[in-house]
Amino acid sequence: MKVLITGAGGFLGQYFVKEFQDHDVIPLTHKDINIEDKNTIEKIIELKPDLVIHPAAIRSPDICERDPDLAWKVNALGTKHIAIACSILDIPLIYISTDYVFSGDKNSPYTEFDTPNPINVYGRTKLQGELFVKEFCEKYFIIRTSYVFGEYGNNAFTQIYRSLKEGKEIYLSNYHFASCTYAGDLVRKVKELSFTKLYGTYHIVNKGIITRYDFAWKVAEIFNLPKDKIIKLTSENFNQPAPRPLYSVLRNYVLELYHMDDMEHYEEILKKISFLCF
Ligand SMILES: NC(=O)c1ccc[n+]([C@@H]2O[C@H](COP(=O)([O-])OP(=O)(O)OC[C@H]3O[C@@H](n4cnc5c(N)ncnc54)[C@H](OP(=O)(O)O)[C@@H]3O)[C@@H](O)[C@H]2O)c1
Repeated sequence: MKVLITGAGGFLGQYFVKEFQDHDVIPLTHKDINIEDKNTIEKIIELKPDLVIHPAAIRSPDICERDPDLAWKVNALGTKHIAIACSILDIPLIYISTDYVFSGDKNSPYTEFDTPNPINVYGRTKLQGELFVKEFCEKYFIIRTSYVFGEYGNNAFTQIYRSLKEGKEIYLSNYHFASCTYAGDLVRKVKELSFTKLYGTYHIVNKGIITRYDFAWKVAEIFNLPKDKIIKLTSENFNQPAPRPLYSVLRNYVLELYHMDDMEHYEEILKKISFLCF
């Protein structure tokens, strides 16, 4: 199977490339393709993939807030170009979306049956990406995930680990509640779904509820690193351009209903990483 992966140079893109290495992977980095361009449609059609996995995006909520035109071009229109190409080829598209499509007003975990209502530009543009996927594709998987970490690449875990190891202070919010997700588990689950015809929207996260502060604390505890450099940011001193949902915990409800939810607790994953890699 020919699997085309966008954002192949990014954090999750690299995990997808590795996970699908037993297939004929077409890894497209930002240098290979700029999804903002209209000719993305023709470029993808020419490559004749059997499946497209699309994690490419402007992932930083603050960059999106500062430069909404860029966010709408990449996250929304870029996804539209890819969705049109997949619809012309009549192949499945896997779009990686986010917990930030939700407002955070709910005080129990969000399921796939809750109505999105994003509160920042990043969330709005990613939600529009979802809508384009639904508008143009018959065969799609929309995968919403949250606070993804892994043992390599640039992500929350590696940043926290490196900073604490080097004795640097880190400042993290302790009042935004969310889920977190091990990239290895996420790409494995996406691969499993990609071989089914169970198209639709899925939440894929590990068990456990975190704040960024709690997550760093757990990393310090499991990896035996000093905790005194982890500084709490409260609502008074959390000052970022993009508002964040206060509660964006996701529940893998559709996977649960299909008896396919084998995602572990994130603390177990951190322990495995510490055992295997450090
Ligand atoms: N990481 C998380 O915690 C998290 C949580 C929820 C959802 N997600 C979603 O997961 C996906 C992947 O996130 P990630 O963490 O892997 O982000 P990432 O490391 O920033 O990767 C995104 C990739 O997209 C590429 N890209 C940006 N603009 C592009 C354009 N115009 N054309 C082609 N490629 C472009 C980037 O290339 P350059 O860097 O060279 O510009 C980068 O390689 C995103 O869709 C994000 O919304 C991530």
